[in-house]
Amino acid sequence: MEKTYVMIKPDGVQRNLTGEIINRFEKKGLKLTAMKFLRLSPEQAEAHYQEHVGKKFYDGLISFITSGPVVAMVWEGENAVSAARKLMGSTNPAEADPASIRGMYGLDLGRNIIHGADSVESARREIAIYFQTGELISYEKNI
Ligand code: CMP
Repeated sequence: MEKTYVMIKPDGVQRNLTGEIINRFEKKGLKLTAMKFLRLSPEQAEAHYQEHVGKKFYDGLISFITSGPVVAMVWEGENAVSAARKLMGSTNPAEADPASIRGMYGLDLGRNIIHGADSVESARREIAIYFQTGELISYEKNI
């Protein structure tokens, strides 16, 4: 079954959106497979955002993502990557569907509340930055 990596960013945690976000993912029918509350090290942040090295927003992005705790999660389900991206809305909250998480709660591209992997490949790479294989819990969910 497809897995995706989702991370509630420091602004989402600070704004008490953690419960609301988890609730939306659960209600969508995705299955929580792993979750950690942590503050990213600079090394983790750089590994995560390596594709953005050299872009003008890179330094600000690394500084922001390491500024406070995040919630790192793995969600599983049919087409989990695209399902999660629809729940989150476009990267820029100003362009996001108003019913999506970023559309409803965000204003700022740099502080857009949540990150989600953009492909199955990215999800695999990002999950490996935050979780060891044994930390992904396999279980039956019938409802
Ligand atoms: P995220 O999905 O975490 O992936 C990279 C992040 O960079 C993105 O969400 C935005 O929060 C942030 N960012 C800041 N400025 C820009 C920009 N100009 N273009 C794209 N992403 C940006």
